[in-house]
Amino acid sequence: MAIYSTKQLLSLCFLLFMVSFSYGRVNLNPTLKTKAVNLGGWLVTEGWIKPSLFDGIPNKDFLDGTALQFKSVTVGKYLCAELGGGTIIVANRTAASGWETFRLWRINETTFNFRVFDKRFIGLDANGKGIDLVAVSNTPGGSEMFEIVKNSDDVSRVRIKAPNGFFLQVKTEELVTADHAGGGGWGDDDPSVFVMTIAERLQGEFQVTNGYGPNKAPQIMREHWSTYIVEDDFKFIAGNGLNAVRIPVGWWIASDPTPPKPYVGGSLQALDKAFTWAQYGYIFCIPTNISATSTQAKPMMLIVPFRKYGVKIIIDLHAAPGSQNGYEHSASRDGFQEWGLTDETIQKSVSVIDFLTARYAKSPSLYAVELLNEPLAPGATLDMLNEYYKAGYNAVRKHSSTAYVVMSNRLGASDPTELFPLTNGLTRTVIDVHYYNLFSDVFDDMTVQQNIDFIHTNRTAQLNQITTSNGPLTFVGEWVAEWQVKGATKEDYQRFAKAQLEVYGRASFGWAYWTLKNVNNHWSLEWMIKNGYIKL
Ligand SMILES: *[C@@H]1O[C@H](CO)[C@@H](O)[C@H](O)[C@H]1NC(C)=O
Ligand SMILES: *[C@@H]1O[C@H](CO)[C@@H](O)[C@H](O)[C@H]1NC(C)=O
Ligand SMILES: *[C@@H]1O[C@H](CO)[C@@H](O)[C@H](O)[C@H]1NC(C)=O
Ligand SMILES: *[C@@H]1O[C@H](CO)[C@@H](O)[C@H](O)[C@H]1NC(C)=O
Repeated sequence: MAIYSTKQLLSLCFLLFMVSFSYGRVNLNPTLKTKAVNLGGWLVTEGWIKPSLFDGIPNKDFLDGTALQFKSVTVGKYLCAELGGGTIIVANRTAASGWETFRLWRINETTFNFRVFDKRFIGLDANGKGIDLVAVSNTPGGSEMFEIVKNSDDVSRVRIKAPNGFFLQVKTEELVTADHAGGGGWGDDDPSVFVMTIAERLQGEFQVTNGYGPNKAPQIMREHWSTYIVEDDFKFIAGNGLNAVRIPVGWWIASDPTPPKPYVGGSLQALDKAFTWAQYGYIFCIPTNISATSTQAKPMMLIVPFRKYGVKIIIDLHAAPGSQNGYEHSASRDGFQEWGLTDETIQKSVSVIDFLTARYAKSPSLYAVELLNEPLAPGATLDMLNEYYKAGYNAVRKHSSTAYVVMSNRLGASDPTELFPLTNGLTRTVIDVHYYNLFSDVFDDMTVQQNIDFIHTNRTAQLNQITTSNGPLTFVGEWVAEWQVKGATKEDYQRFAKAQLEVYGRASFGWAYWTLKNVNNHWSLEWMIKNGYIKL
């Protein structure tokens, strides 16, 4: 081991300090193109990214948003909210789709509300004998609470217990009442028995927190936040050619430490930590007794702040109040998309942006604020977005003249330049587009080469269409080296990733891989880098 004098060590520390200082200044360069990775599944839960997070939930088949269909064993037809809601429940449909699907609101592990197609809730008819099933209530109360009792031998067979203590039974195809005593067997002759199908599940932040409930959720979530992404991840990111992270957050982060139920506090602290890791590390210089022969050596310690990783942060409002797309990754409770339907959801979103920008504006790591992830057309209208994006932009500019303001294009909109009139005259704006060779039947039968050609030809064309010299910058804020191809080789994946890096590298703001960690290997950039699939 080399032996240094105290003086030499001090100079070394000083040198490192200077290096870190100037490195920091270089990083302030406004034209930095991001090569980023998303920290998906961290502060906004997505069950498919980390399924184990849901393992400890009691009765975890029945989470908020689970979509259920019930076929009566006696008449052989599905329960249905006639007209999609607003009137009676019948059992006369041979196939199940929207009107025959009931989405759960979980009260606790045994008690649920059933939300129907037109957003009303099933309950007992208060005007009649109190036993007829109707879907008329807009706000669930005591008359809308049901239990689902499973047959322990065949969990697809269930009975549904109404709030009057009796079970639902199908008397005729047009008459469903809550007046069966229960008991008895699970055979095809029992009018209170239904075959249940789970048509859809949601595994987002609402499901995980409400699933564990107020006693367990805080501990589970804090454990997840503090172990899933740690300082070492920033070391890995900075050490592998990436220069930024896009961090999805949920609207409840702004009311930390006491967000509205069922959300739990603590995600803000986790985000604070990310800013610390992105920005500074420390060098400890401990020149104690470095030279056994030197008598001047005194035990001492120097702490030098050091821009260790220099990673830029893009904060991304991924989950807005009411849900801007109905997906679990926007923390939808039940699959309905209700953001923008009231002015309150828009105002609340603006104040989240205001809050977050104010908090981090002074950090040299804050690079951009993304106002909203993946609003879905037609539910999220262009009018809603124009109103919100304008107000969100102003909220960012109130605190920062340098942070980029990222606006996500609408999923399902036909014109990728529809936000251009809005960005006209605004400064440092970015359009975010997400390019997956997935989620569309266009890709169903594509070969490896066709997928790669699609990147070179079609994605290039799409990117060219939105990348203009005087318009907003362009950002491929989500992409992944995954496709529908079955049995592709490692080399196929390498070529696919390389093509995307090349094309998305031409986006004027840069790109971000989805995501850093994922149990599905190809969706984990960490795994892809460590296993030699992707090299930056
Ligand atoms: C089901 O029953 C309702 C109520 O009687 C009726 O209006 C509807 O037409 C029926 N639908 C079918 C498909 O039989
Ligand atoms: C669930 O909620 C219902 C309705 O509030 C209540 O009657 C029941 O005791 C609760 N069950 C549990 C296990 O907390
Ligand atoms: C420094 O090294 C000398 C010589 O090896 C030893 O005697 C002394 O205890 C050490 N002092 C400290 C502070 O470790
Ligand atoms: C990709 O672009 C080519 C050339 O413009 C076009 O012929 C083809 O239909 C596009 N493919 C898809 C799947 O849209």
